[in-house]
Amino acid sequence: MAPGYEAADISGSRKLRIPPLDGRQWGTVTVHESVLDAVGGTPLFRLNRITAGLTAAVYVKVEFANPGGSVKDRAALAMVREAERLGDLQPGGVIVEGTSGNTGIGLAMVGALHGYRTIVVVPDTIAREKIALLRAYGAQVVPTSGKLPRDHPAHVNNMARRIAAETPGGWHANQYDNPANPHIHELTTGPEIWEQTGGRITHLVAGVGTGGTISGTGRYLKQHGVSVVGADPATSVYSGGDGSPYFVESIGHFVHPATVTDTWPLSYDQGVIDRFERIPDRESLLTTRRLAREEGLLVGGSAGTAVAAALRVAAELGPEHLVVAILPDSGRSYLSKYFDDDWMTRLGFLDAAVGPYVRDVVPERGLAVAHSGHTVAAVLDTRPEGLVAVVTPRKSDDPTRSAPEVLGVVDAAALRALVAVDPGRADDDVAVHAGPAPAAVGAGENLAEARGRLADEGPVLVLVDGRAVTLVPRSALEQGLAAGG
Ligand SMILES: Cc1ncc(COP(=O)(O)O)c(C=O)c1O
Repeated sequence: MAPGYEAADISGSRKLRIPPLDGRQWGTVTVHESVLDAVGGTPLFRLNRITAGLTAAVYVKVEFANPGGSVKDRAALAMVREAERLGDLQPGGVIVEGTSGNTGIGLAMVGALHGYRTIVVVPDTIAREKIALLRAYGAQVVPTSGKLPRDHPAHVNNMARRIAAETPGGWHANQYDNPANPHIHELTTGPEIWEQTGGRITHLVAGVGTGGTISGTGRYLKQHGVSVVGADPATSVYSGGDGSPYFVESIGHFVHPATVTDTWPLSYDQGVIDRFERIPDRESLLTTRRLAREEGLLVGGSAGTAVAAALRVAAELGPEHLVVAILPDSGRSYLSKYFDDDWMTRLGFLDAAVGPYVRDVVPERGLAVAHSGHTVAAVLDTRPEGLVAVVTPRKSDDPTRSAPEVLGVVDAAALRALVAVDPGRADDDVAVHAGPAPAAVGAGENLAEARGRLADEGPVLVLVDGRAVTLVPRSALEQGLAAGG
């Protein structure tokens, strides 16, 4: 040991005194006997700039500081230890999980140290960085469609359950229903926050994926009178949304139109949540980007949702209050999405650096919608004109749909002409007549660039904040360009 350094034992880890980094006080560094000893005990930071004008203090619990890079290390370690204790996971066994990435990374990390192989089933909608990370930890990655109803045999969780059953020594971690997931947050995350704030925390804000984080942390902190606020994507059904898709990964609950029985995770204890803040994608993603640029915190989209909610909560509170938001993971997993200006622009979340823009030549509203399953006659009764987007049926009748809901396009004039010639076709399902799903451009894309990257055929959907707002013939973009728009 270098002279002047002191060591003290703390549960398998040692703390060493180090010279003053800031020129004032001596600090400490910790030495762990294993990576797994470093799970939990994450730092709490105060937000200083994004909170301008607020009197309540806003702190963030930075879970990317876990060795596997996310809050999910806690649940992964707890679930594996519990399965070993119960004998469900035996030496040489195989860990299997369905996950949007982070739980798989945590499980692969624990598996590497405990000598288990890990198989991770992921939806193909997750950021490609997360798939690369899973492979880097030696996990076997099984992608499946992220657009399947929950009861479909190839849905992420059903695939994971089946693979675990068919693999010798297989154990399905099942974070959605595994009590070890919320429990570890009650044992660690909650008490850590209470200690770190010296008992001053008044409000906890966190997203709800499996519900493990908010249920366990909230359960502990509620005993101390803390209010628990769920930060939910605006369309998630957890907080009363219509269940249509959103772009923030790993939180909220989306409902596929073909879902027969929608089940919520047992890890999620709804009774813990005092209220929800419902955050649209735009607010989540722009907050995520601001955290990097204004606070030096590179975090994922669900952290943006949590901070956006925390800022709303803090705006209603005075200086005697202290709000803590849990930031689940790092922005390094989303460089190809939320931090990529092209990705943001194509989905209508940002404007290109220079115009003219798509929105300068096409209206930003007026999407005519027909529901698949409705008859041609019923659709024509609503007197649509021009192009009509055929969408899958959903719970709400909100006409603005996110593009994944658009199955294809019909032209009302062509349908009318068809029925005039052959009245029998009026009883057809309108979806039978739909052309392919259209290409999409962002309303804030540069007009020439948007036109340049589209193929020559078919109509175009225009997106604002990730949702389809209008449908135009390609000629509308061409005419705009020709007019010098
Ligand atoms: C990035 C991210 N945010 C939020 C969550 C939600 O956490 P929980 O499942 O504990 O509700 C997860 C869970 O996987 C996650 O990976």
